[in-house]
Amino acid sequence: MKLAILSRAPQAYSTQRLRAAALQRGHQVKVLNTLRFAIDLSDAEPDLQYRGRRLSDYDAILPRIGNSITYFGTAVVRQFEQMDVYTPNTANGITNSRDKLRATQILSRHNIGMPATAFVHNRGDVRLAIEKVGGAPVVIKLLEGTQGIGVILAPEVKIAEAIIETLHSTKQNVLIQSFISESRGRDIRALVVGDRVVAAMRRVAVGDEFRSNVHRGGRVEPVELTPAYEQAAVRSAQIMGLRVAGVDMLEGKDGPLVMEVNSSPGLEGIEKATELDVAGAIIDFIDNQVAFPEIDVRQRLTVSTGYGVAEIVVHSNADLVGRALRDSMLSERDLTVLTLHRGTSVIPNPKGTTVMEAGDRLLCFGRLEEMRSMMPTRRRRRVRKLPKEPIPEG
Ligand SMILES: Nc1ncnc2c1ncn2[C@@H]1O[C@H](COP(=O)(O)OP(=O)(O)O)[C@@H](O)[C@H]1O
Ligand SMILES: [Mg+2]
Repeated sequence: MKLAILSRAPQAYSTQRLRAAALQRGHQVKVLNTLRFAIDLSDAEPDLQYRGRRLSDYDAILPRIGNSITYFGTAVVRQFEQMDVYTPNTANGITNSRDKLRATQILSRHNIGMPATAFVHNRGDVRLAIEKVGGAPVVIKLLEGTQGIGVILAPEVKIAEAIIETLHSTKQNVLIQSFISESRGRDIRALVVGDRVVAAMRRVAVGDEFRSNVHRGGRVEPVELTPAYEQAAVRSAQIMGLRVAGVDMLEGKDGPLVMEVNSSPGLEGIEKATELDVAGAIIDFIDNQVAFPEIDVRQRLTVSTGYGVAEIVVHSNADLVGRALRDSMLSERDLTVLTLHRGTSVIPNPKGTTVMEAGDRLLCFGRLEEMRSMMPTRRRRRVRKLPKEPIPEG
């Protein structure tokens, strides 16, 4: 395949290893500076220029977008997506994971263990938020920090309030998060490629530091993950829309607590700790996927008027519970069930014999009108006339 690594750091360990792994496998590979692209929307087809010249055809890209250029970098990745060039990490996936709050919000509905987290704007709401996550000591985090910078442990509520107030006054958004003390300055970094963890390490903070980041002096050691940790890592990456990701987890007393999902995980620490060829695993995965560029399914399937994708929840349709899919009349109603979600598991292309249970969620493609009739009634209100007195006095 012909692969472009999008990176501003051609000399960095990760870039060099990825490039070497691709060459070793007989691929063509170029490291292209993300900031030298120009997005071209002037012709009929989406296009890209690189250093002022039309870009030649690539089969795949591997984006390594740094935090400081997220906006431009994801725009370039999105342009490749429009051109049907395969990317393991989509622009959406990168954007979602970059912001710690957004990531936490997206993961929160999928039964993934996470440290209790709160986000407030008004200073009057800070104290309650700290109490909600379990009180002091409490962790305060900048939404877009990396390498441990912007992660603070506040020992007392008063100090926490002062820190948050200070950061708010400089227009910085911060997360308030419960301090997972049982993790004792240690965390797990799992490197997810596709649907498996290819390497994992434990990072241990030095001295009285609670942040275990390698950039903060953290020591690393290989670790064998239990299935619970592997699952949490793989599911988190998949939910974020990332096929190459570094998932950071604290070791909570009841299992993994996901802190963040990194879309451009560094390879040096993990390759040296585990002595595994992580770069090679990434290149092999991309090579296998090249034929399947990421498609925004919802967008593509909503193109025919009146048709679209929607989720039908089985408990709100009591007549579906206990029935096999083929007896559900769904296909007669012109609906195709794409996936069935049950708790944390997903059944793709469920068979006609699958019996539905209360709480199942069916992702369906079909006539929107038909699906609307199966959802709990949320009546579309007519737009009424503006009342005589739009804002009553007094
Ligand atoms: N809620 C928490 N409880 C205990 N330790 C934490 C918590 N959040 C972060 N840490 C420590 O701080 C480090 C950095 O936090 P993280 O959210 O991963 O930010 P960054 O993007 O800067 O790496 C983690 O690797 C972990 O060691
Ligand atoms: Mg981290």
